[in-house]
Amino acid sequence: MAYIIDAIRTPRGRGRMGKGALNNIHPHELLAQSLNHLAERAGINKSDVDDVVIGCVSQAGEQGGDIARMAVLAADWPLEVTGVSLNRYCGSGLQAVNFAAMGVMSGMQRLVVGGGVESMSRVPMGADGAGLDGNNPHLRKKHFQVPQGISADLIATLENFSREEIDQFALRSQQRAAQAQREGYFKRSLFAVRDPETGAVALEVDEFPRPDTTLEGLAALEPSFVAWGSKAVGPNGETLDQMALKKYPQAGEIRHVHTAGNSSGIVDGAAAVLVASEDYVKAHGLKPRARIRAMATAGAEPVIMLTAPTPASKKALAQLRMTPKDIDLWEINEAFAVVPMQTMRNLGVDPERVNVNGGAIALGHPLGATGAMILGTAIDELERRGLSTALITLCIGGGQAVATIIERV
Ligand SMILES: CC(C)(COP(=O)(O)OP(=O)(O)OC[C@H]1O[C@@H](n2cnc3c(N)ncnc32)[C@H](O)[C@@H]1OP(=O)(O)O)[C@@H](O)C(=O)NCCC(=O)NCCS
Repeated sequence: MAYIIDAIRTPRGRGRMGKGALNNIHPHELLAQSLNHLAERAGINKSDVDDVVIGCVSQAGEQGGDIARMAVLAADWPLEVTGVSLNRYCGSGLQAVNFAAMGVMSGMQRLVVGGGVESMSRVPMGADGAGLDGNNPHLRKKHFQVPQGISADLIATLENFSREEIDQFALRSQQRAAQAQREGYFKRSLFAVRDPETGAVALEVDEFPRPDTTLEGLAALEPSFVAWGSKAVGPNGETLDQMALKKYPQAGEIRHVHTAGNSSGIVDGAAAVLVASEDYVKAHGLKPRARIRAMATAGAEPVIMLTAPTPASKKALAQLRMTPKDIDLWEINEAFAVVPMQTMRNLGVDPERVNVNGGAIALGHPLGATGAMILGTAIDELERRGLSTALITLCIGGGQAVATIIERV
């Protein structure tokens, strides 16, 4: 059994340099402050932590090396505590919690932190130089991958989601996030990030939402991925759109519907989740908030890339002989609006149970941290509503997804 003792996160700051309140804070410090708030709130002895498992996508520059260990040191934790960094692209933060849970469930570890960090302002997407496929010409001949925005537009084209439906979804994300902020639903997980130099509060609430968003405003935005789509990249000068259509000729032509208003936002942030074994919980009289019931990953075709939340969710549900109707609340990462829309349609999930406090469209998606963040959001909301079970899932680059089912205790 793996128990979740607590989950905390930084607010998400705008992730464009010069525009966000967390731009001046090194990603080590975002994570170190998360670790210290978590340990303090849970009242644990830090020396008991067997490992700190951290998701981070752009592992270059300030986020290069082993950011988990560097943050342990930056947080002044005991030198005996280790840290390991992992990259499962956008699923990294949830994968880190799942690995923490697996370590505990195997009996090899008793207390593990899972979490994630991404400063998208300081270490922008693509900073690791890997591109979509590590620039491997042999792989590229087998799977010519395209940027995720084009994959999202391809899904919308193939599944007949209109621009208006997509904007409606985005508007709902903004409205729900605005209400959650107004009513203080995020307070349980949030802590105020401080400037490590001065100690002054840098940010205490999520900075990305635009509560005054309207459908008209969204409709007026230009699609973001038209220029990319028309870039000549193929072996015979084909555009990115044409390369995607080679795999999906039935789409005819890609309708570009995703914009700055209905795609996930670029932000900075970190999150940490404390996972403990049953015997550790008993020995220390801890009060867990939830337990991890099921964990799964699934792969799918990499050009369309973003469709695997459906099989990953099904795999996790099957472990418990559950159906989608047995899940009280869902967090389906809003990488692009079409991702949760398609997943809900495929699984027959009631939209009233999905991303009930908004998602990455309104709040932003700090790549490596998001999975751990939305797990915490799900626990907070289960408690607030007196419900039991949540499923958290994220689509992932290369055509993958990760899913976790939690239950309150
Ligand atoms: C879609 C994307 C390219 C847009 O980037 P961008 O154009 O720089 O987007 P911004 O958030 O800076 O918004 C640009 C403008 O759109 C407008 N805008 C954005 N959201 C809006 C809304 N809800 N209502 C009205 N206007 C809006 C604003 O004018 C904004 O400019 P401002 O910030 O100066 O006010 C970028 O957000 C992106 O790449 N998202 C996906 C990230 C990703 O791939 N993640 C990993 C895979 S999931």
